[in-house]
Parts: sequence; structure tokens; C-alpha cells
Amino acid sequence: MKTYTFAVLPGDGIGPEVMEVALEVLKVTGEKFGFNLHYKNADIGGIAIDNHGLAFPDTTKAICEKSDAILFGSVGGPKWENLPPKEQPERAALLPIRKAFNLYANVRPGLLYPQLTDASPLKKERIPSGIDIVCIRELTGGIYFGQPKSTQTLPNGEEQAIDTMVYQTSEIERIAQVAIDTACARGGKVCSIDKANVLETSVLWRKVVTNYFKEHAPEIELSHMYVDNAAMQLARDPNQFDVLFTENMFGDILSDEMGVICGSLGMLASASLGANSNSLGHPFGLYEPSGGTAPDIAGMGIANPCAQILSAAMMLRYSFGEQEAASSIEKAVEVAVTSGTRTGDIAFGLESVDTASMGAAVLQSLA
Ligand code: IPM
Ligand code: MN
Repeated sequence: MKTYTFAVLPGDGIGPEVMEVALEVLKVTGEKFGFNLHYKNADIGGIAIDNHGLAFPDTTKAICEKSDAILFGSVGGPKWENLPPKEQPERAALLPIRKAFNLYANVRPGLLYPQLTDASPLKKERIPSGIDIVCIRELTGGIYFGQPKSTQTLPNGEEQAIDTMVYQTSEIERIAQVAIDTACARGGKVCSIDKANVLETSVLWRKVVTNYFKEHAPEIELSHMYVDNAAMQLARDPNQFDVLFTENMFGDILSDEMGVICGSLGMLASASLGANSNSLGHPFGLYEPSGGTAPDIAGMGIANPCAQILSAAMMLRYSFGEQEAASSIEKAVEVAVTSGTRTGDIAFGLESVDTASMGAAVLQSLA
């Protein structure tokens, strides 16, 4: 029987509670589709600061290196909020792990089932059949990582800070390919988002994207949009997009906007795919829910586990090549939620269930 090896990094807040449910769903899926799952737990984020003095310890890195994928929970919380920004769990765990594993492609599906349109702040008539879009965000370049990046005191005593936005052709081309692959498996449309009326990096981005698509995917319908307009269009008519495709910081902002129009963050999964292949010949990747640690409800057993379950499904699809198993988990979540089993974040007047019961409903739909 096939065995897939992955690292489990539950992290902080609701991370461990929802992870437990996702692992159960993976186990049952493996039994159904004929594969074994072998995983090792490791600390990341705040709990790693507490236990090892660092948000992303070497011991955790070593466990990830021996794996074919990382299933990630979430990091951060009030306990670590007073640390200097660079040492806080989110930044000190997420940015180095992305860099360490070259996770350059962030895939965030923005999915809102038609039965859940109440969850969206958008008017129902704008999204009569829900929302179904994907954001592809470049994740290891741009202003997040560009050098110089520093703060210094000027001769006149003022402080000055510098971030540098930098992109090169190869970085743009490899993420363009991810946008193409994603669009091919969906509606065949890509909207590339930039600020080419102002930024040099965006002028290059638009040129490289245009040429790359012309040469490698002429069948894809490519359009371009400025990021300020894209933010408006997303709120006005999200389904005009199929695949939104953009650089690191624009993607950070737009994917959060996408999250809010899709209703509950408790439903949104994500994949961060690496440049390197794993031992199975598929992309090494990190899979994490978009929602964060939700400290207000952590430990209460009422968090929505669906985003973590759907992230596990993405791991099966991208890093293990188990398309059918992934789809069956996605279907099971949809059936469970749309037939009325819902945690508080998506209940809207229906009786709400706890984390374990939500997981049980997904397992039941999986059977
Ligand atoms: C995200 C987060 C991170 C980012 C932060 C926590 C460093 O907001 O994954 O979108 O900005 O990329
Ligand atoms: Mn973000």
C-alpha cells in the first residue's frame, strides 16, 4: 500500500483542535482510497517560542525536510503580541518557512456555496450562485523579501525605513505557469493584477506575463487589471474573475478581501507550493487554513474545522497526486455543510454544532 509522509504543525489557538479533526478525515479517506498516512508532529509559532525559544526551530525544519508535505494549523495569539514584530509567531514562523522551502506559489480558493450566501457581506443579488474564484499569489519575492530592507537614523535625527520591491523574469514566469495550470483545470481565464501605471516591477510583471502566456498558453483568456481597480471589482462582481493572479503584497491584500466576501474564514483553505519536488515527484507544499488562530474561541471546541479539512484535501491533490480522494473530501464538506450541519460561524439561525460534530458530519458524508 502507498504511504504518504507529512509533517503536522498544529501551531497555536484553534490550530490543534481543528487539526485533530482533519487528521481523522485523512485517515478515513486513506482507508477508503487505499493509502497510508505517516506523519510527525512538530512545534511552530507561539508554542515553539515557548518550548524552544524560536518560532521556527531547526528541529521542526528537520522534520519538514524529511516529509513530502506540511500540514499547517495556524500561529500567533495575544500571549506573543508584545514581542518585537520580527519575533512574533506569524512573521517569524511563516516567512522563514516559505523561504526555507521555496514556497513561491500561494493558491487560495475563494469558494462560497450558493446555500451559504448569507455568510457574505455582499448582497445576495450580486452572488446568486455563490462565489467560485481562485487567487494565485507570488509568495517568496517582491517587497516582503527584497533587499535593502532596513531602518536607520539619518544625520538630522529622523528615522528612515526602506523596503524594496524587486522581481525578476524567472520568478514571474514560474508563477505564471501556476496560474495557467490552475486556469486550465477551471474556467480558462486569468486576470493578472499589477500597478503598471506606477511601479517598475509591475511594468516588468505585465510584459513577462503577456509574453509567457502568448508562448505557453495562447488558449487561456488573459486580462490585466490595476490592483486598486481589482479591489473594487472584487467587491462589485467577484465572479467576473476565474483566476486572480498577482505579486506578493497585492495578493496578501486581495486574498483577504476575497476571504471576507466568501463569508467565513472557517471555510477557506490554502496551499503554498514549492519549487522543489517531493519524493513522489509532486510539488512539496505547505497546506494551511486561511483563518488564523481565533484566540477568542480557542480551546472551546467550537471552531470550524472545514478550512483545515479542505487544506488537507489540497495536500492530497497537489503533493500526493490523489485527485479523487481530494475531491471526495471536498464533496463531503460541501454535503455536510449544505445539508445543515454547521459550526457557529456559518449557522445563521440554524442550530450550531461543535468542532467534533462538524467533523463527524464530514466523515459521515465521506462514507
Ligand atoms: C498571510 C499572512 C502573512 C503574510 C503574515 C502573517 C506574515 O498575512 O499568510 O497572508 O503577510 O503573508
Ligand atoms: Mn495575509
